Amino acid sequence: LPILPPDLSTCDPAGATTTRRVNGVEEVVKLDVNCCPPFTDKQGDYKLPAFTKLRRRQSAHRLSPANLAKYKQAMAKMRELDKTDPADPRGFTQQANIHCAYCNGPYDQVGYPGVDLQVHNSWIFFPFHRWYLYFYERILGELIGDPTFALPYWNWDNPRGMTMPPAFDDSSSPLYDEDRNQDHRPPAVVDLALNSGITDPVQLISNNLALMYKEMVSDVETAIDFMGTEYRAGDDPHAFASGGTSERGSHTGIHAWVGDPRNDLNEDMGNFYSAGRDPIFYCHHSNVDRMWTLWDKIPASYPKKIDDNDYKNSSFMFYDEKKNLVRVKVADCFDTKKMGYEYEYSDTPWINSRP
Ligand code: C2O
Repeated sequence: LPILPPDLSTCDPAGATTTRRVNGVEEVVKLDVNCCPPFTDKQGDYKLPAFTKLRRRQSAHRLSPANLAKYKQAMAKMRELDKTDPADPRGFTQQANIHCAYCNGPYDQVGYPGVDLQVHNSWIFFPFHRWYLYFYERILGELIGDPTFALPYWNWDNPRGMTMPPAFDDSSSPLYDEDRNQDHRPPAVVDLALNSGITDPVQLISNNLALMYKEMVSDVETAIDFMGTEYRAGDDPHAFASGGTSERGSHTGIHAWVGDPRNDLNEDMGNFYSAGRDPIFYCHHSNVDRMWTLWDKIPASYPKKIDDNDYKNSSFMFYDEKKNLVRVKVADCFDTKKMGYEYEYSDTPWINSRP
């Protein structure tokens, strides 16, 4: 059976936990944060709306000044909602809490009390985050009255994008977050591997490209290898190793690289519950989502589609840009153009990085 959308009325305000390794032993830590969303019993199935112009997601390093200005204006408004109406589901903290609610245990799976809902380490990883960003982007557009507003992507798979995008490193900007690893501010080169230990920038770049080739091409022999293990109603959350090559690889690499080692749990980007508090999270995930669209088009000897109704019918709940609580299905997010957005082209030099 498919994963059902969570029942917001049973979200546990004290239910957020995380795990931590202490002297090699994994222990569960209770988090002092209520990440449950506001509740309303008015809810319905989401229909992809008609649109006249595709939103075009641009590389964050190449964002035009006009688009950067819009992005900052929209983010400022989203942050402003935190103060003017903290219960507005479109506010920045509410948006960040979505990640905590779906990843740190406050929701049980409907029909399976005590079984946490977890959107990582399985085949719903890409679809969940695609929908999450979809609404986040539409909310930002709504707040500035621009239905063509598009989230930029952090082009970390290309050497020209292998630093934190400078726009996020300006402390006077609403895109800034001080809870980041201070040694990794620009011009530090990203490490897509989890702590490769490499310090030479030239070597880091070639290591990153080789890693991209592995997770997009040579380590992938089935769609499940890339997307993640199957996850069905009643299943306990899977372990890290069940995630797809990209989720475990570059995706987690960037989270760990940006997270702040001065904080106990590497907040913000280094923990599920806090990752969404860093605006760079959404720009990072825009590129993670782009990786899904690119992988889809790489010629391969195995089928790219997962033909499984449990997968396709798995669903989630989100608030849309008009504050309506809506139910969305995995099957409705396979085509970004139907969803109203596309990615501006960037080179993918890793495709030639067969070791
Ligand atoms: Cu839900 Cu990058 O993680």
